[in-house]
Parts: sequence; structure tokens; C-alpha cells
Amino acid sequence: MSIFKDHIDAMTAYTPPLEGRDPVAYTLLDFNERTIEVVEPIRQALHAFIDGGRLHMYPSYGDIVEKIAAYAGVEAGQVMITNGSDHGIDLIIRSACQAGDEIIIPGPSFAMYGQCARFEGLSIVEPQYTREGGYPVAEVIAAVTEKTRVVVVSNPNNPCGTLVAPDEIVRIAKAAPGAAILVDECYFEYSKVTVADRLLECPNIVITRTFSKTWGLPSVRLGYVLSVADNINALLNVRGPYDINQFAVVAVSTGLDAPDVSLAYVDEVMTVSKPMLESFLDEVGIAYWPSAANYLWTFPEEPQALELALREARILVRPKADGANRLGLRITIGTVEQTRRVIEVLRQALA
Ligand SMILES: Cc1ncc(COP(=O)(O)O)c(C=O)c1O
Repeated sequence: MSIFKDHIDAMTAYTPPLEGRDPVAYTLLDFNERTIEVVEPIRQALHAFIDGGRLHMYPSYGDIVEKIAAYAGVEAGQVMITNGSDHGIDLIIRSACQAGDEIIIPGPSFAMYGQCARFEGLSIVEPQYTREGGYPVAEVIAAVTEKTRVVVVSNPNNPCGTLVAPDEIVRIAKAAPGAAILVDECYFEYSKVTVADRLLECPNIVITRTFSKTWGLPSVRLGYVLSVADNINALLNVRGPYDINQFAVVAVSTGLDAPDVSLAYVDEVMTVSKPMLESFLDEVGIAYWPSAANYLWTFPEEPQALELALREARILVRPKADGANRLGLRITIGTVEQTRRVIEVLRQALA
């Protein structure tokens, strides 16, 4: 007999393929990360922190919340820092729901929403994205009941990269006033689309963001939640006082002193590399979903053969099936040089 709850024992762990990802041996285009290292001031700040004799102390967060608030364009009381945005997603779902409640998670989408919903014993409603229509707004609104406690808007969605317009998110928020509208803006710096300026109009919107994807800091784990101050205060009752490590705060605080230095990479990815890869895919007739993020979900005829060809050329991408179980390859977009190499390998493999 287990000492744990039956539904927890019945779950399976979320185990993304993390092992063997050697950044020297491979170009890593499989996790939507920044494909180059953090900028030099961040690296130096981390070294200085290690040498500064404070590792034996519990973390203290100083003015990091104020700095993030200024970056996000909200008040400091509207920000809570988290241990990556996965932590924020978990806290929001845990705080809003109890067993038997409903959560709407349009699919296919990022695995953590479903995983957190299953921890809590929630009933998951899963209308499907389409390549033509993107997020199923009408179906989501039609699926709202008095038991709906969370509606997920992954914006842009992973793996498909599609966006929901802010006005549509507001429409969903007004159609489900008793539910938390969890807007995941993990890729905000790429999409540049946000509802951070609509929080006062819709107090049930709760945004999660991260320093993992653009800033190059997934290893130290720092995310944040944006919402109205009452929601932030409630979530702070659940978050632990030391959940975020001091390395993360040191790194992000330094990054935020000169955001443009880190964000120059975004311009290269979105304005040069991405159009380059899209025009190659158009040229060779490989279908892909329209994406507002730093990745493209592609559907070549022989995904496994192409994945292998890329792997043999020391490039990792991520196989991902759609709702109809058709296998695609999600390709993270990196620097121009890396993108040229991807195109070269794909061109050879297709020949
Ligand atoms: C849509 C989405 N949300 C959240 C995350 C998790 O990010 P973090 O590293 O901040 O936990 C990911 C990571 O892949 C993601 O794709």
C-alpha cells in the first residue's frame, strides 16, 4: 500500500530528454533556449558572487522585484518572483483549484500545465489548436462552466508558436470572471505581445514569465508572476521564502541593468534567422505552423530521417506529435550562422 495519494501514484513523471545534451558537441535546438551563452557582465557577476563569501547565507532578494516591475511596466506590488515559470504555473494552479475542479488547457501544449492539473486531481478540458485558427477561443469560451477555475493561454504556445491577441484574452477573461486566466508569456521577448497592461482591467489574469529562454538563464531558474496586487499577495502566502536561489537573483539583476545587451540576440533570431528558415521551408515545401516565438513546428514527410540527419550533423531538434498524432520536428531558431548550418544539413538530407 502506498503512503501517497492514489492519483499521484497513478501519474507518470514529466521527463523531457535532458540527458546527453552536451553544448560543446551539439548545437542545441531542442529546448527553445538561447543558443549562445549569457552575456559577459552576467558571467562576471556570478563569479563575483561566488568569491564574495555569501554562499553560506540564505538568499535575500534586495530590489529584484522593483527591477522586474520596471522592466515589465507594472507596480512592484504586482510582481512575484518564482523558481522558473514552472514554479509560477504550479503555484497558480494549486492556489486556484481543488480536486474535482475544471481547468481548460487547449492542446497540444506545454506539458507542465497538464502535469500540475493532475497533481491537483483536476478535470482537464482540452479543446484543440489548429494550424489555420490557432487558439480555439470560441471553444474555450463555450467550455467554461461554474467549475472552471483556470483557463490556460500559452502565448505564444509551445510547441506551435501561435499567438492569441490581447483583446481575445480579455474576452476570455470577461467570459470566465471566476477563473484564473493563466497567460504564459514565457517567450514574451520574442513575441513582444503582452497583457501586462490589461491587468487592472481584468483582475483574473495572471501572467507567468521567465529568464530562461531569452536571457540564457534556464540553469539558475528565475521566473515571475504578474497580476493585480491582491492576487500576488495571495500567491506569496503559498510560495516559500527561499524558493529562488541567490545565483538567479544576482544573474538577473545584472542582466536587467543593461537589457539591450542580452536582447540583441532576440533581434538576430527574429529578424534574420527566422525569416531565413521560413523561406527555406517554403522553398522545399515543408509545412510549419505560423510562430511568434523562437521556434518553428515543422512537418516534413520523413521527420525521423531528418531528425537523424541533423543529429549526425551534431544538431539536436525536438520531435513533437500534433493532436492527430502526426510527428513533427520543433526546431529552435538560433544565430544566423547556426540557422545556415541547419538549412545546409536539411538541404543535403532532402536531396
Ligand atoms: C510555454 C512554456 N512555459 C514555461 C516553460 C518553463 O520555463 P521555465 O524554465 O521558466 O520553468 C517552458 C519551457 O519550455 C515553456 O515552453
